[in-house]
Formats: sequence, C-alpha cells, structure tokens
Amino acid sequence: MSGETNVMTGLANESLANESPLASFRLDDRLIVVTGSSDGIGRAFAESFARAGARVVLASRRQGKLEEVRQSILAAGGWAEVVVTDVGRLSDIRALAESVRRLAQDDDRRIVLINNAGLGFTKPALDVGEEDWRLLFDTHVKGAFFCAQQIAPLMIERGYGKIINMSSTWSRATDVGKSVYGAAKAAVSQLTAALSTEWAPLGIRVNALAPTTTMTDFVKGTMGANPDRAAKLLSRIKIGRFGQPSDLVGAAIFLASGASDFVTGQTLFVDGGFTS
Ligand SMILES: NC(=O)c1ccc[n+]([C@@H]2O[C@H](COP(=O)([O-])OP(=O)(O)OC[C@H]3O[C@@H](n4cnc5c(N)ncnc54)[C@H](OP(=O)(O)O)[C@@H]3O)[C@@H](O)[C@H]2O)c1
Repeated sequence: MSGETNVMTGLANESLANESPLASFRLDDRLIVVTGSSDGIGRAFAESFARAGARVVLASRRQGKLEEVRQSILAAGGWAEVVVTDVGRLSDIRALAESVRRLAQDDDRRIVLINNAGLGFTKPALDVGEEDWRLLFDTHVKGAFFCAQQIAPLMIERGYGKIINMSSTWSRATDVGKSVYGAAKAAVSQLTAALSTEWAPLGIRVNALAPTTTMTDFVKGTMGANPDRAAKLLSRIKIGRFGQPSDLVGAAIFLASGASDFVTGQTLFVDGGFTS
C-alpha cells in the first residue's frame, strides 16, 4: 500500500486515477477498533464495517454481549476479535492497545479507531453529583483521549491512521438536564480539533460525528417512558424523525475510509437538521 501523495494531483498514487471514485470508500484494507461495540450505534458500526470487509476489534465491558456481536459478524463471513475494555481505566486501554498491535502484526492494514463508548443521562444541574461528573468525563473525555494516545503510535509507525470520536448535538445545542453530558461532548469535539492539529503531520486524521437522538434500545426505552420530552425533542429535528443507528453508518464509512483523507479536525453533525 502506498502512502505517497502527489502534492500537485492530490492522488494517493497514480493507479487510483483509473479506479472507480467509490474505491476510496473501501474498508477492506482496514483494521477498525470500535469501543462501545456491544450495543447500539457501536454494534451497528462494527457489523457494517465487517460486512464491508474490515477486520473489527470489539471493545467494551460486557464480554457476553461482545461475543454475541462477534458471532453475528463471523456468521456473516466477517472477521472480529473481542477485547474486554473499560475505557474509563487507563490500564484497560493500554491492554487494548497491546492487543490491537498483536492483532495487526500479520499485515499492513490501516488502523482506524472509533471512540464510541459512552452513556448519557438527563439530570438537572442542581442534582448532579461528583460520581455523575466522573462517569461522564471519564467515559467520554478521558476514554477517548487515552484510547487515541495509546493506539496512535501504531498508526504513526504505519504513516496513516483515522480516529473518529463520538460527539453529540448537545456539544453545541442545550437542553435542561444536559449540562455535564453536553460539556463532556463539547470537550470531545475540542479534543478532536486539537489532536488533528498535533497529528496531521504524522498521517493521522481525527474527526468526530455528532448525532441527534438516535433510536438505540436504551434511547427507545427512555423516550417511551417520557413521551412529552420525546415530542419536544422531535419538534427540533427538521427532517421530522429521530435518527437510527444506520443513519450514522454512511458518515462513519466516509470518515474511516480514504474518501476523507483531506478532512481533519471536523465534527460532522448527522442530526436531521437539529443544529442547523
Ligand atoms: N443514541 C443517541 O441518541 C446518541 C446521541 C448522540 C451521541 N451518542 C453517543 O454515541 C455513542 C454510542 O451511544 P449509544 O446510544 O449507541 O449507546 P448504547 O446503546 O447505550 O451503547 C453504549 C456502548 O458503550 C459501551 N460503554 C459504556 N461505558 C463504557 C466503558 N466505560 N468502557 C467501554 N465501553 C463502554 C457499552 O458497552 P458495555 O456496557 O459492554 O461496556 C455499549 O456498547 C456514545 O458516545 C453516545 O454518547 C448517542
């Protein structure tokens, strides 16, 4: 695989000029680490990437759920490995990075990291406790930063890498009960821009996705329990429906693939017009 770019043509190599424009979206030359892939959006990403030919490393805390996802990927003819990881713990992240290095050693696949692990809850600012703060910032900000820091050296050795962080519309918009979650997601977007600056010369592109309310099993439960809040949220989405995990897959493929090689430091809002 050539990492050489002609600065005049912008092409990764001359042979690409003769390929279909869709060739730059291929994922079959990538090893993609997806944190938070036992459920929800991360599971949709992992299964979609594997169907597109990527090797996928599944990382979250619940081994049983991760094994279930791995089996579904294997049954569909894909490749996946499980590394049980709590992204709030640096020791787990170091172990994940070592596993990724071992799993990548047999070939020269391009490494992609999706910092997707996360959780969200709605809590009035006056009720937020220290543990709520710790949980949200440790999972979203500390987790994303140290996963990037620990896996980046392998990308740097290969002269190429992609990091996609999961931000949120609440990084920009506000709502009652979203102060700490929104602050953590704003930090994720700022980290995205900061790391993109630092690592662009090393071949690493760092971008973020910012979804609106997306119908995972967990979100379906919370919306079902609070129809008034669901109606208020829906009224802010101009396309007129909530997101589905599948709505994010195309944008994730774009940011994980060579099609976005000239894009870095961006937060892409996939939000049905919520923030526009
Ligand atoms: N759904 C939405 O409406 C929405 C909107 C905007 C942004 N987002 C963001 O999108 C991402 C995925 O959300 P989702 O809705 O798909 O959530 P989800 O369905 O609740 O799944 C969350 C995933 O994160 C994992 N996870 C949570 N804490 C973790 C930790 N400490 N270490 C490792 N893994 C952890 C969970 O696995 P384990 O329990 O096995 O660890 C699970 O796989 C999150 O960053 C979320 O903030 C979601």
